[in-house]
Amino acid sequence: MRLRSVELEAPDCQGAARFLQVNWGLLDAGSKNGISYLRGTEPLPYVLSLTHAHVRALASVTFSGTLPEIEQARSRASLAGARVGPMRTFDEPGGGEGFFLEGPEGQVFRLVCEKHRVEKLPSERDRPLQVTHVVINARDREACTRFLIEVLGFRLSDRTGFMNFIRCDEVHHAIAYAQSTISSLNHIAFEMKDFDAVMRGIGRLKDAGFAPAWGPGRHGPGNNIFAYFVTPFGATMEYTAEVQRVGDDYKVGGPEDWKWPPNRTDHWGVSGRDSEALAEAEKQFPFRKPVL
Ligand SMILES: [Fe+2]
Repeated sequence: MRLRSVELEAPDCQGAARFLQVNWGLLDAGSKNGISYLRGTEPLPYVLSLTHAHVRALASVTFSGTLPEIEQARSRASLAGARVGPMRTFDEPGGGEGFFLEGPEGQVFRLVCEKHRVEKLPSERDRPLQVTHVVINARDREACTRFLIEVLGFRLSDRTGFMNFIRCDEVHHAIAYAQSTISSLNHIAFEMKDFDAVMRGIGRLKDAGFAPAWGPGRHGPGNNIFAYFVTPFGATMEYTAEVQRVGDDYKVGGPEDWKWPPNRTDHWGVSGRDSEALAEAEKQFPFRKPVL
């Protein structure tokens, strides 16, 4: 199983799609049923979709796997008493079969086995490859973490004083839950080829008048390089690279393992953080009411 895509709803999809292509570096993956799809260079049909709506919402977070993996996950989720939708066919780039799953705070997850493969595109030096993690604000991050572990078989990689990092493959985290008073999108992270690509991405956004809200820097858990931007359509998005890959022998870290010295929020300590702008952006994309 792997993290594949994020589905958003927003009032100005055209403007958002323009920003995502012209400035962020994603590619047009077509539109269908009025929904715009965007992709990176990895062989995934899309990584982000935008549906026009009057209010902003995080419609779903999608994982993909083989059909046996998806069917097994559905059986396991049903047995665990989770709210699951029926198996259905998805009419979207990649198509395929899957189901909706509701998390403890109304999070909407989709598990999909695509029918159509797409080609990997030549990697460009500053274009996003794919979505590598999604961070979700949660009122009870421990309950939400248990759900992904017990219902989907994901694994805890690290726990800090305010975040839990969870993986579904060898990537250190596909999902992280940030402790909050609300349940909403915290940010979406796009993997870049390397350090140079992250810096070039920052430069491209600087040329367009956007400064990082945090970064560049290097995180503790996951050891990834990061740069966060509050996008004009309201969501916080991250360019990242060098995300740690871990195996079964990875030792789960706790809050005591991830303490920063005073005035530090990353390994390098070279960048400021606009906490106010980031906190405001966290309120913009609550989960849409689940419809399974
Ligand atoms: Fe991140």
